[in-house]
Formats: sequence, C-alpha cells, structure tokens
Amino acid sequence: MLAIETSCDETAAAVVASGPRLLSNVIRSQDELHAPFGGVVPEIAARAHLQTLVPVIERALESAGTRWEQVDGVAVTRGPGLVGCLLVGVNVAQAIAWARKLPVVGVSHLAAHVFAALLEEPELRPPVLGLVVSGGHSDLVRWQEDGSIAVIGRTRDDAAGEAFDKGARILGLPFPGGPAIDRLATAGDPRAVAFPRPRAPGLDFSFSGVKTALLYEVRKRAALSEQERADLAASYQEAIVDALLQRVEAALFPSPVGEGGSGWGPSPTLVIGGGVARNRRLREAAQQRFGSQARLVIPAPELCTDNAAMIGAAGLIEWDRRGPDPAPFDADPGLGFA
Ligand code: KG4
Ligand code: ZN
Repeated sequence: MLAIETSCDETAAAVVASGPRLLSNVIRSQDELHAPFGGVVPEIAARAHLQTLVPVIERALESAGTRWEQVDGVAVTRGPGLVGCLLVGVNVAQAIAWARKLPVVGVSHLAAHVFAALLEEPELRPPVLGLVVSGGHSDLVRWQEDGSIAVIGRTRDDAAGEAFDKGARILGLPFPGGPAIDRLATAGDPRAVAFPRPRAPGLDFSFSGVKTALLYEVRKRAALSEQERADLAASYQEAIVDALLQRVEAALFPSPVGEGGSGWGPSPTLVIGGGVARNRRLREAAQQRFGSQARLVIPAPELCTDNAAMIGAAGLIEWDRRGPDPAPFDADPGLGFA
C-alpha cells in the first residue's frame, strides 16, 4: 500500500506491506521554511506540499523497490490538519487511485499516531491504552476490542507539543520548540524550579498554568544565564512529562478497580505516539514508571513525528475493518480518531 501524509508541515510518503511491514518511509520536513515565522504558515505549507509531494511519492516507491503495478491501494490522511495541506494529499491520492483504478482509504492522522506502534509490534491488539501527544493534540485513548478508538481524556487548553513550542519561545529558543527544549534540558537540573504539576478533572490535561508559571520565572530574572535557561528548560520539561504520565497511570491502574478489573486485561498495553513521544525524558520516564507493569510501545523517533508509514499502518487496519472509501471524499480538517 502507498501511503501519503500532508496534514501539516511534513510532506511524506511510504510503502507499507501487509503485516504491517515498512518498505520505505520518505519525509520532507518544511521546518526551514517556517522557522523564520516561529510557527507553521498554512499557505506556505500547502504550496510546499504541492511542489514536493509527487517527487516524494516517487522516491518512496523507488526506495521500496516497488513498481506502480505492484501498488494495490492508497492510504491518505483525511484529517485532522490544515485544510489547504490536507487537500493536496487527498486530491493527489484520489487522482492516483482514479488513474490506476486502485482503492483508496482515508484515515485519521490521530489514530495513525497510535497505529504507528504496529510497525514495531505487528501483533498488538486491543485493548490498548494510547497517549497521543502532538503539536495539536494531547489525548488519552482506548483502542477498543471492536477496532474503534475512544477518547477517555483530552487537554482543556494547550496540547503538550504546543506547551513545548510556547515554552521554547518564552525561553528564546528556536522553532520547533520541542526538540530545542529536549536538547537544552540535558544540561539543566529538572529540580531547579518546582513548576506546578498541571491538573484538570478526571483524565484530562491542562498546560496553560505551567506555561504561565514559566513566563513569570523568566520575567523575574533580568537576564538568563545559559545555566538558568537550561535549568528552566529541564524543570519545565519535567513538569509536562510528569503531568502526562500521572494521567497515564490513573487510566492504567484505576482506583478503585471496577468490576471485571482495570479493563486492560491481565497485562496492560500502553502505546505513546505523536511528535512529543520523541522527547527523550518522556521515553525514559515512561520506561521507568511503567516498564515493569505494562507492555510499553513507543515507536522509533522517526515514527513518532509526522510520517506516512503510520498512515500506511492505519490504512491497512481500516481496510480490514471497513474496506476502502467510496471516492470521491473530502478532506476533513476537524476529524477525530474515527
Ligand atoms: O505529531 P507531530 O509531528 O505533528 C502534529 O501532528 O502536531 O508533532 C509535532 C510536535 C511539535 O509541537 C514539536 O515541538 C513536538 O512535537 N516535538 C517534541 C520533540 N520533537 C517534536 N516535543 C518534545 N520533545 C521532542 N524531542
Ligand atoms: Zn501528528
């Protein structure tokens, strides 16, 4: 299956065989185009997709050693994302499908961040607890026995990636902020500043409070030394990571345990996906906290940030579950996990 992803600022194509087995994964990042503006500019992103998508698809086929005649279907991100960006992928996918008489399946980018784990552990099956942490979303989900994905916790304000990006801006670090904080934090002390642990009711998240706390800490100081900046980055990162994992723990080991157990079976499975799952402290802390009590799957870093391999994995799952989509279909910028 050929898979295409253009929801935000990565132009990506991949070839994924059943299994799922990854044959190629080509990602053209637009970071350099957007960095001068401190964030993704939708019009620039859409135009760049238009210019690079076809060569990216050709390169994905070439590096997989796959000929067009061997492609048996096309998977594409239908949403959520920037409408102009999604339209490029959805239209190119349907044009290919029409020209080559192939079935096409439109998938949720968010669900794909969970299904990326199948590329590492193909035999994973529900029930699975998923933490999806990206630039636009922080969701706790349950991949259910019937194949659907239910949201059981969400952010009340900023997404985790947004908290990293805005925090980086407050600290004077370049865009994208997540990797910049991740890097700088290695030189800092995570206990230097006791940031509030963001809390929202139930399994929900809230990050605006910790972001404001960081802003006040920076304002309190006339100028930041390099060490202070690193300490603030490490402490801020620790607060976000801790808040995320605290909710995961509450979902995984509910108390009191309901009738019929926790709902996750005898050995719970936890998947963490989305761009923030690249964060080294999050990966390490999740391993320390849940490694011995749950089956923990955090895909390789390049499968966490936006990519088309995960769209292929999701495409195969959706294909089995509900078959291809009747074309033509539209991009859906507000799509959830369905
Ligand atoms: O999933 P993704 O590539 O795009 C969306 O679907 O939004 O996630 C991008 C987000 C950005 O907010 C970026 O700052 C964050 O993931 N991110 C990280 C790291 N790498 C990317 N956040 C923390 N640490 C990282 N190493
Ligand atoms: Zn994403």
